Amino acid sequence: MGATIFYYTGTGNSLWVSRKVADELGDTALLSIADYKDENKTINSEIVGLVFPVHIWGVPAPMIQFINTLKGSNPEYVFAIAVNAGQVSNTLIQLKKIMTENRLNLSAGFEIKMPSNYIPWGGPGPQEKQHKRFELAQEKISSIAVRIKEKVQMPVEKGPLWQRILFTAIYNMSFSHVPKMDQKFWVDDKCNACEICCKVCPAANITMCEGKPVWNHRCEQCFACLQWCPQEAIQYGKKTPKYERYHHPEVFLKDMLKSR
Ligand SMILES: Cc1cc2nc3c(=O)[nH]c(=O)nc-3n(C[C@H](O)[C@H](O)[C@H](O)COP(=O)(O)O)c2cc1C
Ligand code: SF4
Ligand code: SF4
Repeated sequence: MGATIFYYTGTGNSLWVSRKVADELGDTALLSIADYKDENKTINSEIVGLVFPVHIWGVPAPMIQFINTLKGSNPEYVFAIAVNAGQVSNTLIQLKKIMTENRLNLSAGFEIKMPSNYIPWGGPGPQEKQHKRFELAQEKISSIAVRIKEKVQMPVEKGPLWQRILFTAIYNMSFSHVPKMDQKFWVDDKCNACEICCKVCPAANITMCEGKPVWNHRCEQCFACLQWCPQEAIQYGKKTPKYERYHHPEVFLKDMLKSR
């Protein structure tokens, strides 16, 4: 196998980016990090890609845990793509450091901007702006693929210094609190007990109690439960009832369930 891309996603942006990179590279397997954990596959690809969303200006915990399991593998070329909504900040520098600690070399790290799925701060923005981001992302993916095929070693992409100082401090302060941030989820009267939120959660953090979802404080803050609820019944804090839901238009619930 030429390349394997390991992805993590809440609303499909990172899966879509992974698919597009795979199309450009050819001979590429796509694996959700959840599948890899379950099936314990060995990696025998020359090229390995890590594609994931930026969470709170850094690398989400499940991707850090996944990298820790890669100790001992020795791919020739590893690239990463930090999919974000405009502020990659220190994410790829942090990733490179974590990989070095695991005796892995990150050959190149790219950032790609996509619509935001961080609904506490609002919806994904107007359709026109979303489509502009998809177009620009596709162009960037094509140029990234050229560099991956040539196995180019290059510095990782990063945000401005002020972001890296300020937002890395916030990331470090928040990191251990993420699992309990699900305390702000609640469900409104539209819930019809379909259990899709339980099935789409990558952390198996949601159980049903008396026909309603309950969050069990193992949350990864991916927002898949809220964004994929077909009834739009899941809320977070006070403002989300009025905000538009989002998932990538070319990624469907069945794609998400397959990777859980
Ligand atoms: C908890 C959380 C934190 C986020 N933090 C950031 C951030 O620090 N910078 C940023 O640009 N986008 C941030 N986002 C937005 C996502 O990175 C972005 O929408 C991404 O494309 C989602 O990818 P996915 O659909 O693969 O999950 C955050 C999203 C969530 C859910
Ligand atoms: S996905 Fe939505 S409607 Fe279905 S059980 Fe969960 S909250 Fe209720
Ligand atoms: S509870 Fe919701 S936000 Fe938390 S990990 Fe599960 S799907 Fe993601």
